[in-house]
Amino acid sequence: MGIDVSAVEQLFSQQAGGDWDWIVRAPGRVNLIGEHTDYNEGFVLPMAIERAVWVGLRRRPDRWVGVYVAAESRWREFHLDAMRREGSEPIEYVKGTAWSLAEEGYFLNGWEGVLLGDVPIGAGLSSSAAMEVAVARAFAAASHLPWEPLRMALVAQRAENRWVGVQCGIMDQLISACGREGHALLIDCRTLECRPVPLPQGVKVVILDTGTRRGLADSAYNQRRTACESTAARFGLKALRDLSLDELAARAGELDAVTARRVRHVVGENARTVQAAEVMQQGDAETLGRLMVASHESLRDDYEVSSDALNAMVEIALSQPGCYGARMTGAGFGGCAVALVEAGRAADFAERVASEYRRRTGNQPAVYITGATAGADVVATRTPGT
Ligand code: GLA
Repeated sequence: MGIDVSAVEQLFSQQAGGDWDWIVRAPGRVNLIGEHTDYNEGFVLPMAIERAVWVGLRRRPDRWVGVYVAAESRWREFHLDAMRREGSEPIEYVKGTAWSLAEEGYFLNGWEGVLLGDVPIGAGLSSSAAMEVAVARAFAAASHLPWEPLRMALVAQRAENRWVGVQCGIMDQLISACGREGHALLIDCRTLECRPVPLPQGVKVVILDTGTRRGLADSAYNQRRTACESTAARFGLKALRDLSLDELAARAGELDAVTARRVRHVVGENARTVQAAEVMQQGDAETLGRLMVASHESLRDDYEVSSDALNAMVEIALSQPGCYGARMTGAGFGGCAVALVEAGRAADFAERVASEYRRRTGNQPAVYITGATAGADVVATRTPGT
């Protein structure tokens, strides 16, 4: 069972005592297609998932922030006028988000509360974006700030880029803030325009956690990003979003072979993602599934961000009845794959994939069948008029 309001209430009463004012939630995400395209100003097609980060909080009359971090079973606190970056623990996401909100020009109130979540960490399901967006939602409630999801997504991304120090794109924070129930969002990462696309009838999205965690991910991520940005600059483009497959074919000779493959992934993936949104809108799960498989192959062979565990998981998923398509999801090098499965077969599929994967790799997998949820919101409030 996931976390719900009563679980948050219970933890709040054990740890903080007394009444809470708000309970807020921000979801993790799974990306259906459009990988490593966001920082190239391209397209992504993620959906918010049932797993989320929750905060139960009570406003304070001063500028202290006290957080019981469930993952560490301890209280952390800081003063909004004296924040320093220390280490990489969960509290840094809270501080970083407070810092970024202040950068945005907001005056913040303190609060105390509990922070808990069930988005697995480092699994490619955006636990850190969910934490930043949940914390932004908590500060917005305690400080009576207007909740503008798109703006708050950018605030959360700045926290990740400049406080936590990870050069991620906008996808994760944006879907966590703006997700729509029953839908994925086609996000144009240049204009930040979001178009909701309904999940096809009769299919389930199944998340397949390989049980492996990304090792080299941060440095490899930054290298990929740099290769993309320098190629765009070399071609005189603002971003690889502006390159077509034909133009790439004509100019590939100017690039070394590895860079040419990296760029081919990005350009092809953008085209696949736009097409995926179209066929999904028409309820065509078969074509959507085929595009997911092509995406995986491109990430594996051209962008080289997959792993043996991810490849095994995808292969096992694709060999099951009722599976339309499967691919690695998120930054890569470990974490999760995502599969699109006939709804009536999803439970069987989950069981079979898990046992075959365990047998073949010796790793312990986890499988989540998930619907698409709404983005961050205040789930319960005790303060009228907020
Ligand atoms: C991570 C980043 C995103 C995106 C994906 C790859 O999740 O946080 O911005 O770049 O990797 O698609």
